[in-house]
Amino acid sequence: MVIIREERFADVAAREALLEKAYGVERFAKTSERLREGQLPAGGLSLVATDHGALVGTVRLWNVAAGPGRHALLLGPLAVHPDYRNRGIGTALVRRAIARARLAGHGAILLVGDLAYYGRFGFSAALTGALRMPGRYEPDRLLALELKSGALAGTRGVIGTIRTAEPKRVGSATRIAADGGQRRALMKRAA
Ligand SMILES: CC(C)(COP(=O)(O)OP(=O)(O)OC[C@H]1O[C@@H](n2cnc3c(N)ncnc32)[C@H](O)[C@@H]1OP(=O)(O)O)[C@@H](O)C(=O)NCCC(=O)NCCS
Repeated sequence: MVIIREERFADVAAREALLEKAYGVERFAKTSERLREGQLPAGGLSLVATDHGALVGTVRLWNVAAGPGRHALLLGPLAVHPDYRNRGIGTALVRRAIARARLAGHGAILLVGDLAYYGRFGFSAALTGALRMPGRYEPDRLLALELKSGALAGTRGVIGTIRTAEPKRVGSATRIAADGGQRRALMKRAA
């Protein structure tokens, strides 16, 4: 049975293997990655789907600045193992992430992705016209969902990283180091 739960430190290697399968090494070149590298995901917003203990889906959300002085979350990457697609796992991960973000009091979620997929959750490009990613991206794919009405009203400018006051969890430094090491190894392999 597939269940959705918070990611644990022991999931990191399996999550990275799944992302490698879904996106390949090109994922490290994405502009969204520039907003994630060296950061921790937003608290409680790293979710995995598992089937009898095997990791088959992942989604994480990150704190960003949606223009100067405006906080939002950035969703991604989202991936489901090829053998488990079209069973509603991606939908369940996104819906659970949205619900948790709302419960935690976040105002809005941004992402760069396919409207044809994310439209079903209420994401659209209607509120992102004056926002920009800090690098190459397709503007039509910059989507947003407001969790609180007006959270993105009037916001403009470049989306950037944000420092949060979240307490460091045990193992956080190790997790970043593990991610970074894997990224360097993969970039080297791709070069
Ligand atoms: C995108 C992804 C997470 C969806 O996971 P999933 O568990 O198969 O999704 P669900 O079962 O909840 O939904 C399946 C539906 O989404 C549709 N879908 C999947 N990817 C889509 C996309 N990029 N654009 C539009 N529709 C998409 C499927 O055709 C299916 O449609 P249906 O409900 O009308 O049959 C998964 O396909 C994946 O990991 N893809 C590789 C990574 C990727 O391409 N991500 C980019 C997303 S923008």
